[in-house]
Amino acid sequence: MLIKSFDEYKQVYDYSIKNPEKFWDEIAQNFYWRKKWDKVLEWNFRDPNIKWFINGKLNITENCLDIPAKKHPDKIAFYFEPNHPDEKSYSISYKELLEKVCQAANALKELGVKKGDRVAIYMPMIPEATIAMLACARIGAIHSVVFGGFSAQSLADRINDAECSILITADAGKRGNKIVPLKQTADEAIKSTHSIKKVLVLKHTGESIAFDNQRDVWWHEIVPQQKTFCEPEVMDSEDMLFILYTSGSTGKPKGVVHTTGGYMVYTAYSFLNVFQYEPNDIYWCTADVGWITGHSYIVYGPLLNGATSVIFEGIPTFPDAGRFWQIIDKYKVTHFYTAPTAIRSLEAFGTDIIKQYKLDSLKVLGSVGEPINEEAWEWYYQNIGKGKCPIVDTWWQTETGGILISPLANITPLKPSYATLPLPGIIPVLVDDKGNEIQGNNVEGNLCIKFPWPSIIRTTYGNHERCRQTYFSTYENLYFTGDGCKRDQDGYYRITGRVDDVINVSGHRIGTAEIEDAINQHPDIVESAVVGYPHPIKGQGIYAYVIPTKEIKDVKLLHKEVNDLITKIIGPIAKTDVIQVVSGLPKTRSGKIMRRILRKIAEGETYNFGDTTTLLDPSVVDEIKQAKLKSELR
Ligand code: PRX
Repeated sequence: MLIKSFDEYKQVYDYSIKNPEKFWDEIAQNFYWRKKWDKVLEWNFRDPNIKWFINGKLNITENCLDIPAKKHPDKIAFYFEPNHPDEKSYSISYKELLEKVCQAANALKELGVKKGDRVAIYMPMIPEATIAMLACARIGAIHSVVFGGFSAQSLADRINDAECSILITADAGKRGNKIVPLKQTADEAIKSTHSIKKVLVLKHTGESIAFDNQRDVWWHEIVPQQKTFCEPEVMDSEDMLFILYTSGSTGKPKGVVHTTGGYMVYTAYSFLNVFQYEPNDIYWCTADVGWITGHSYIVYGPLLNGATSVIFEGIPTFPDAGRFWQIIDKYKVTHFYTAPTAIRSLEAFGTDIIKQYKLDSLKVLGSVGEPINEEAWEWYYQNIGKGKCPIVDTWWQTETGGILISPLANITPLKPSYATLPLPGIIPVLVDDKGNEIQGNNVEGNLCIKFPWPSIIRTTYGNHERCRQTYFSTYENLYFTGDGCKRDQDGYYRITGRVDDVINVSGHRIGTAEIEDAINQHPDIVESAVVGYPHPIKGQGIYAYVIPTKEIKDVKLLHKEVNDLITKIIGPIAKTDVIQVVSGLPKTRSGKIMRRILRKIAEGETYNFGDTTTLLDPSVVDEIKQAKLKSELR
């Protein structure tokens, strides 16, 4: 499976495009299947209907756990590094991980979970989060992990959408000097759900929590006494493995569905090739399992390759801004995968703190989640990689399941801020707004993918039509990513950012409509419009224009109230950076807000707003612009 040179990459890519089914058939042979597939692929992007490894039977956890545990039982699967360096760190071998997953799986069975049931997981970044996910997969239950930073309402929405019967959570989590009251939030969420029958609670921080003896079950009272083996449920390739909610341009977040066989093959293949992982390497991805990066490149991809990874509960700046670098030295991390926003925020602390650490174990650096600007790329390359570690700028999405465009470490010649070239099997195309394919190089357009890959989204949970409309209806016969992209003279791809109403804040994807819905619940606000604007650390910041019901005397207070409301409804990640009170919004005669203009004003543009002739009341633009300028002068 491992590509070893750039020439080989070119050959493999060419072969994969000409013979995709043969190519993926050969890759899939590297895994353990209870029964091989009858046919590699059936697809159309019209419905869409995409099936990989048809009639193949397997359980992904046998490939993640049983096989590596047999091959090297004592090899470390995870090193756990706690929030504070003085707390206890520990490691889990493959044999131990298999046993722990089996015990958790048996406990879930005892709680009544069956194949096909949905299980919500709302946990801190600790090994039990991973164990819970794998335990679901072991018994054929579908996990739906909800990031621990989301609010009670967000959690409730996700539980309700998938009708989860069990929630797995912890008393609380730790993030720097903050305690995250997970159980308290979960209790609040469950009040507005109807499907949860049992809550499995891990004692992690020892915080005192409310406990409902009928409904709540302590992890330590049910998991450790279970048998250490659980017979894996035999799944079909196309059985659902998990649901993960993500934001889009409209409506509430949707549940992206990934299935078993194709997701396994693609995450394993992409992990191995992008990172060029070798057996004794120590890999560390700083993401949270609440996001797709955690699913594919903390849990499934690395385990499928028998890798050793670090799991870290804390944050980069606690107890000080050297925490990441200290962890790299402590575990002799060879592969470090993080987000540009983390790089930029650590850059702000200067290089003296870095000089206290060796960082000489590093071989490969990775970036994910948002475009990495050239300056941050150079800083990362020189100061962390000491000019000798390639940076794999990996472009992908929740919906793609795995990395689609990225350098292969030490193989693909790099270019700062470019995700470079597609992985084997991936056919990116750029299209204009009418959907015409833009040929040649030195061009820019909307990024689409022309042919399915094994870990492509299959549906949006409970609403297939939404999946079709969102990804497959904008351009005929193409998967539309929602991203803008350039292709340079060498055919290299550079992602320029979202072209839809989605904002990428610190690598977190948030729909403007979701934020507006939350803001509009403020009693003094009639209407709002939210746009992203360039932010030096977060990549994009959130700028909200609000129309009040009455004169606002204290805008600062209003801003605080709006952010409190957003925190309550969505979570702190969606808090606004700027709020501007306006008397009207630039709308077309058909009532559509022209966000393009609002974006320009938020960016500081004072002059060039493009065509404003379709506006119902063009004077609004001037008014908003003047008010912004005035507030800046103050
Ligand atoms: O805009 C792209 C950006 O993140 C979006 C996907 O977000 P999400 O589904 O939350 O997954 C994030 C982790 C894979 C994309 O549509 N994005 C992701 N990686 C990159 C990126 N933009 C530029 N460069 C990247 N490497």
